[in-house]
Amino acid sequence: MSEFQRTLVTAALPYANGPIHLGHLAGVYVPADIYVRFKRLHGDEVLFICGSDEHGVPITLAAEKEGITPKQLVDRNYTMMKESFEKLGVLFDNYSQTSRPIHHETSQAFFLDLYEQGILKRKTTLQFYSERAQRFLPDRYVEGTCPYCGAEGARGDQCEACGSQMEPDKLIEPHSVVDGTPVGLKESDHWFLPMGDMQPYLQQWIEGHENWRENVLNYCRGWFERGLGDRAVTRDLDWGVPVPLPDHDGKVLYVWFEAPIGYISATREWAQRQGDPEMWRRWWQDEGTRLIHFIGKDNIVFHALLFPAMLHAHSEPYVLPDNVPANEFLNLEGRKLSTSRGYAVWLPEYLERFEPDSLRYCLARNLPESRDTNFTWDDFQARHNNELADVIGNFVNRTVTFVTRYFDGKVPPRGELNDNDRQALAAIEEAAERSREQMESFQLRAAAETLLLMSKRANQYFDEEQPWSTRKSDMARCGTTLYVCSQFLRAFAGLWAMILPFSMQKLWDALNLDEELWQHGWVRGDWMLSEGHPIGNPGILFTKIDDERIEAEKKRLEAVLEA
Ligand code: 2FM
Ligand code: ZN
Repeated sequence: MSEFQRTLVTAALPYANGPIHLGHLAGVYVPADIYVRFKRLHGDEVLFICGSDEHGVPITLAAEKEGITPKQLVDRNYTMMKESFEKLGVLFDNYSQTSRPIHHETSQAFFLDLYEQGILKRKTTLQFYSERAQRFLPDRYVEGTCPYCGAEGARGDQCEACGSQMEPDKLIEPHSVVDGTPVGLKESDHWFLPMGDMQPYLQQWIEGHENWRENVLNYCRGWFERGLGDRAVTRDLDWGVPVPLPDHDGKVLYVWFEAPIGYISATREWAQRQGDPEMWRRWWQDEGTRLIHFIGKDNIVFHALLFPAMLHAHSEPYVLPDNVPANEFLNLEGRKLSTSRGYAVWLPEYLERFEPDSLRYCLARNLPESRDTNFTWDDFQARHNNELADVIGNFVNRTVTFVTRYFDGKVPPRGELNDNDRQALAAIEEAAERSREQMESFQLRAAAETLLLMSKRANQYFDEEQPWSTRKSDMARCGTTLYVCSQFLRAFAGLWAMILPFSMQKLWDALNLDEELWQHGWVRGDWMLSEGHPIGNPGILFTKIDDERIEAEKKRLEAVLEA
């Protein structure tokens, strides 16, 4: 039994600078949503928190390019992203924004708590400064010649040509990417979180989590080997959360300091909407909470080290993450996704052309849990047609047809069970238990496979028992077969719901099961449908996808590569 009473699940706050694509979905949002639904189906108390990450340089750069304010840009993108998550069935309890006042207050208070405890260190640093614009420029706004390889167009923080990290004072002839004018260096004071001092604590804490994914542990160990240093938590920028101290005009909290606090702000906002503003504390400050961060691998350092260090350093007793199931990356037709080149499949466009469950399913079967995986449109089509339509859809259809035609639309009497019947029913229980264990240990892809095997077993059982022939020779046997098949339907609806919520809702309704049970539809206890239970027709759950539609998608991607 778990010592936890509730689970708080967060999904990495996506930057509000463009639509969600398949990489985001496979890495973070689909697994997080499946996990949350799994917990709910199991009757556990869960809160699912997300929102958009609206500060930081990429946002200001994107807004400048479009000639609008950062706030206009993020508000527009926020609405678009929220809608497409909903259409994919990724249902957060709250999807907030880091540009909202509640987040500014929450992150400023967090900063002040650390500041007042004397934890933050003040240091003088050298920053790029544009005389012409009369402002400091973030590293990404500055380019120059690389002192190591001589390449032009090296960025203020890194040279892409040779991969060298750049110190601001090393870059040759630095100039602003905004107006091309030369850029100088100027001293600026900043606040730092002494991660180095906290390393012994963090190391011990991380090593206490040997059940974490190998990639996450190895990544953290790599950081420990190199040694954690002081980490700046403020920046010279005007778009962000202002540093809440006198004489700090033009300084904001570093986006990676405040963004994770966004999980707390979004929980506070949710609690206010529930009419109980203090309720957020139950989720963040009570030991009975199990905190889980779903993220992509590029976010590991922030969620496994920086944010835990911040939570630990706060004077109030925050819970630390119990697990950080980070995913590797998803490639697209064998190549890396590239948002700048437009080489991606964007969620809003996908949703205009295909069903949400097909994508949820295809990604669930191919999650980059332990290594990078590859999405191809051929694989998408094959999984939809051969697994969703031919295995799940087909079984539902043949069972419902038989029950409707020959048993008056009701679960037939159980009759006497033969070995095959008993084994089939046992296979359901085993799949339920096995997939539950896999889900609990964040092996979501394996859980999806377990359910597929159960669904194949259902068809195999149908074929072996040949109800089309016993219907003529032994009606009681035919009834028993359809009794067992009806239990598979019930299991499909309860177990597949976490991955296929839209189609399983239809099946659930056709099975005339009540809405409350749907919230906790996991197979357990007396889950079976009883004799005489009415079964309706959910209609065709999955219509096959023809080659033409797949070719069109492949062409779209090829066109991007040729452009
Ligand atoms: O990598 C990203 O997309 C970040 N916007 C994730 C932030 S997660 C959290 F810290 F807010
Ligand atoms: Zn270089």
